[in-house]
Amino acid sequence: MKFNTKTIHGGQKHEESTGAVMTPIFQTSTYAQSSPGNHKGYVYSRSANPTRTALENNFAAIENGTQGFAFSSGLSAVDCVLRLLQPGDEVIAGDDLYGGTYRMFTRLFEKYGLKFQFVDMNKVENVSQAITKATKLVWIETPTNPMMKITDIEEVTKLVKAVNSSILVAVDNTFATPYLQQPLTLGADITMHSVTKYLGGHSDLVLGALMVKDDTLAEELRFIQFAGGAVAGPMDCFLALRGIKTLHVRMQRHCANGRSVADYLANHEKVGEVYFPGLSIMQIMR
Ligand SMILES: Cc1ncc(COP(=O)(O)O)c(C=O)c1O
Repeated sequence: MKFNTKTIHGGQKHEESTGAVMTPIFQTSTYAQSSPGNHKGYVYSRSANPTRTALENNFAAIENGTQGFAFSSGLSAVDCVLRLLQPGDEVIAGDDLYGGTYRMFTRLFEKYGLKFQFVDMNKVENVSQAITKATKLVWIETPTNPMMKITDIEEVTKLVKAVNSSILVAVDNTFATPYLQQPLTLGADITMHSVTKYLGGHSDLVLGALMVKDDTLAEELRFIQFAGGAVAGPMDCFLALRGIKTLHVRMQRHCANGRSVADYLANHEKVGEVYFPGLSIMQIMR
């Protein structure tokens, strides 16, 4: 399947009992068992729910991963990744993260002994200089919210893995979406999304995603998702599945609209001609 087809059909199959082509909203907490322990793969909806399974399979498909995970928010997806770490472990992150991610790193996780270094990832050497024996995770957000700073995912990942292949590289892909950028294909271990934004696409839900391609890592994340409990509900999973079906068309239009605005501003007499990476359009207004 090519990308546009995957947004609609990736990881999807007809619902078995009725043949419904769209996965129904399985609004249930528990599942009947024919005898104790004898069930159809679903026991309790915190561990798995069929609507969430359909969305998680779609997540994996659109990011070229093997497994996906749906959370109750983008931040609870970030939280799940950080829970892979132990006290004393170090994280290298970009210096212009989404504010909520920065708040979680510094105000929730520092007090449990994780250490964070924030570096300008525009320059790859800043990442290599920050790596220590305790580095366990490199957290990339690109483009960043709010300054739209860009990091070369492939180059950073190559460099990090050359120093220590066990350091995980995670990428917040919320702003680019897999329509424009697929971090797992560029070598990253984990892709994360605030599905609340482009993937959802209709401002009608709050939801988060992780996608991975390694089964051992997937198993660890699945355990944290289950044990931590911040799962996405079936109604929101249904809305996210429906939103993703139009992702490619919406992104095409976003890109065209963005180009029109950029062209208009570039030709505007009150807008400077030089673009300084890292500065917002307000800052380059004369
Ligand atoms: C880049 C980025 N990452 C993470 C988040 C957090 O996601 P959520 O609001 O779904 O918890 C946001 C939210 O604005 C975001 O823009």
